[in-house]
Amino acid sequence: MNVMRHLRVPNVMVEAVLGHMKAEQWLAIGYRVVSDVEGHHRLIPISPEAPPLLDGLTPGYEVVDAEGTPDDRPSTDWWKYLTDILGEAEVALHGEAWPSNHEFIGDMMILRIDDDVSQHTKAIAKAKMQSHPHVRLVVKDRGVQGELRIRDIEPIGCRDGADILTSDFPPHLLETRVMVRESGKNILCDPTKAYFSSKLQAERLETRKLAIELREKLGRPLRVCDPFCGVGPALSTLLAEPELVGSLLAADLNPDAIEMLLDNLRRWDKRDYPKDPAPITSVYDDRIVGFADALKLPEDQSIAGQWDVLLVNIPHRTIEFLPSLVPLLDRSTPSLVRGRVIVEENGIEEANRAIRQALPTTLEGHTEPSLRIKRDYSSTLRLCSFEAWISPEP
Ligand SMILES: C[S@@+](CC[C@H](N)C(=O)[O-])C[C@H]1O[C@@H](n2cnc3c(N)ncnc32)[C@H](O)[C@@H]1O
Repeated sequence: MNVMRHLRVPNVMVEAVLGHMKAEQWLAIGYRVVSDVEGHHRLIPISPEAPPLLDGLTPGYEVVDAEGTPDDRPSTDWWKYLTDILGEAEVALHGEAWPSNHEFIGDMMILRIDDDVSQHTKAIAKAKMQSHPHVRLVVKDRGVQGELRIRDIEPIGCRDGADILTSDFPPHLLETRVMVRESGKNILCDPTKAYFSSKLQAERLETRKLAIELREKLGRPLRVCDPFCGVGPALSTLLAEPELVGSLLAADLNPDAIEMLLDNLRRWDKRDYPKDPAPITSVYDDRIVGFADALKLPEDQSIAGQWDVLLVNIPHRTIEFLPSLVPLLDRSTPSLVRGRVIVEENGIEEANRAIRQALPTTLEGHTEPSLRIKRDYSSTLRLCSFEAWISPEP
């Protein structure tokens, strides 16, 4: 008997929660989602490697101990397929170097391949595709590059009907423009053209929770400013909550990101949007959209001082940019800044001081902004996030 933690989720929320858990790699591999006895909930098996608190899901959903139901369908264990291809000795030889983690973006799988096992790239791609029958394309991740944070990827495996190809890929099978389902909305993205990460879903849900808290304080829908919006995933999560977003500004330096954002907004807002990306403009009274350098936005008098929520998702430069972005906030009422920062673990206190210095006084009843580590970015760097509740100007 294998008693394990399960997340008890109402049937209607199962798809969304599964997406979130897959992206975070919190699902127990080899076990099935089962119906709870009363029939209105499902029990989702939680990976033993998942943290005690599932950011964005608990305590919202209940965690229960129940016997795990083994999944007897085609094995989800990629090690078995890898061993079938390479043999036990070769697999054992490289131990931790194998890519046991991966990220799904729609039906694409993105993985990093350690130099130590790069000679086995074809076997890795094949084993990953065999163990994940829904995956159409496997790509090797060489990291996000440059100011626009675009991913450098290389296809290493794709499906051609029932066959798995690991070389000589026909170009029409290598499509990287995909739809990702998240929080009940479809997000169009293409990691080769604009930044997108499924791993940030928990972060987006946390932002939504904070925004709901601010709405309670202000008693009205919020004016949301996302000047580094990419294809708009943070906005998608906020727009999924009825009456949360009043007006919004969505901008990014990358015109390709804006092209996909316009497609996304057309579906999320159920209104017409231009097809081609253009410099930032007021598309509707309550929608300012387009490409722009975020640092120049406060120079526009119709944009400065207008916003209740400011999202600053540019982790390499958040602290440097914050002072220039503060004038975007409406300081006549409480407001919220939500940011992400990459920092050396031993530099976190200094970064906290810099954030506090860059931002106006904290709203009474709230603690001063301080970074929370979300995950490792490298052996010494940590990806952190913070929220700052800003007091109105006296
Ligand atoms: C880490 S990505 C975040 C994208 C999006 N918010 C998300 O969560 O998927 C940072 C984004 O900032 C954009 N960017 C970089 N410098 C910028 C600038 N000066 N002004 C506006 N956008 C910028 C990049 O093109 C990129 O899309």
